[in-house]
Amino acid sequence: MNDTSRAGGAASLDVSIASKDYHSASGRPLRALEDLRLTLPAGQAGAVVGPSGCGKTTLLRLIAGLDKDYVGAITLPEHGRLGMVFQEPRLLPWRSVIDNIRIAAPHAREDDIAALLDEFGLAEHASHFPRELSLGLARRVALARALAVKPDLLLLDEPLVSLDAALAKDLREMIARLIDERRITTLIVTHDLNEAIALGDRLFLLSARPARVAATIDVPTPRKQLLEEAAARIEAQARAVYQGKSSYHGKSSPR
Ligand SMILES: Nc1ncnc2c1ncn2[C@@H]1O[C@H](COP(=O)(O)OP(=O)(O)OP(=O)(O)O)[C@@H](O)[C@H]1O
Ligand SMILES: [Mg+2]
Repeated sequence: MNDTSRAGGAASLDVSIASKDYHSASGRPLRALEDLRLTLPAGQAGAVVGPSGCGKTTLLRLIAGLDKDYVGAITLPEHGRLGMVFQEPRLLPWRSVIDNIRIAAPHAREDDIAALLDEFGLAEHASHFPRELSLGLARRVALARALAVKPDLLLLDEPLVSLDAALAKDLREMIARLIDERRITTLIVTHDLNEAIALGDRLFLLSARPARVAATIDVPTPRKQLLEEAAARIEAQARAVYQGKSSYHGKSSPR
C-alpha cells in the first residue's frame, strides 16, 4: 500500500517508506528499504550516498513512480514534473541525439532544445547516434533530455560513475552549475562522498541493505565558497557515521 501525491504542490520532497520488498523467483522476499525517511526542501539538491547494492536505485525508482509496490508515502514537490537520468544513459539507439531529446520532450521548443545542446557542449553531436558517443557524451545527452521537460524534480542515478577523472570533473561542474542556476529540486545518487559534498545542499547517508537514512547532514551554502576545511569536517562527520556500525543498523538516526 502506498501513496504518491503528484499534485497539490508540496514545498518539499517527502519520502517515508516503511518497507520495500522484492520477490525473487524462489519466493523468498528481499527487503531493499526499511523505515527510510527523508525530506528535501524544494529548490535544494540532495545527495543520497550509500554502499553498493544498498537500495539507492530502488529508492529513485519509487520516487519516480516507476515502481509502486512498496509500503509508505512519497510526496513530490510542486507540480511533480519529473526528469530522470538513469545509471545507464538509456538512449534510443536508432535515434539521433536531438531526436532522443525531442521524443522525451515532445512539447519542448526547438530553440530551447538548441540552447540545451549548446549548454552541454552537444551542438556538434546533434545528428550523431548513441553508438557514436562516448559514455561522457551519452550522459550529457541523458541529462539534457531530462532537463528538456523542464522538471520540477530531477533525479540523477550515479551521473558520474565509470567516467575517467577529467570527464567526471567536467560533468560534475556542469551539474553543479545547473543546480545553482536553475534551483530545480534535485536528488543525486552517488557512492562517492566527495561528489556528494560537492553537489548536495543536504546529504542523506544510507545504511547497508535494507537501506534507511542513517544520518542527514546539511552542507553550508553557497557550496562554491565551501572552504576545504569545512568540506573535510563534513567528510569526517559522514565517515564517522559509517564507521560507527552499531548505530548504523539500529533504528535511531544519529542526526
Ligand atoms: N527487480 C529486482 N528484483 C529483485 N531484487 C532486486 C531488483 N532490483 C534490485 N534488487 C536487489 O535490491 C537490492 C538493492 O538494489 P539497488 O539496485 O537499488 O541498489 P543500489 O544501491 O542502486 O546498487 P548499486 O550501487 O550497485 O547501483 C540489491 O540487493 C538488488 O540485488
Ligand atoms: Mg544503483
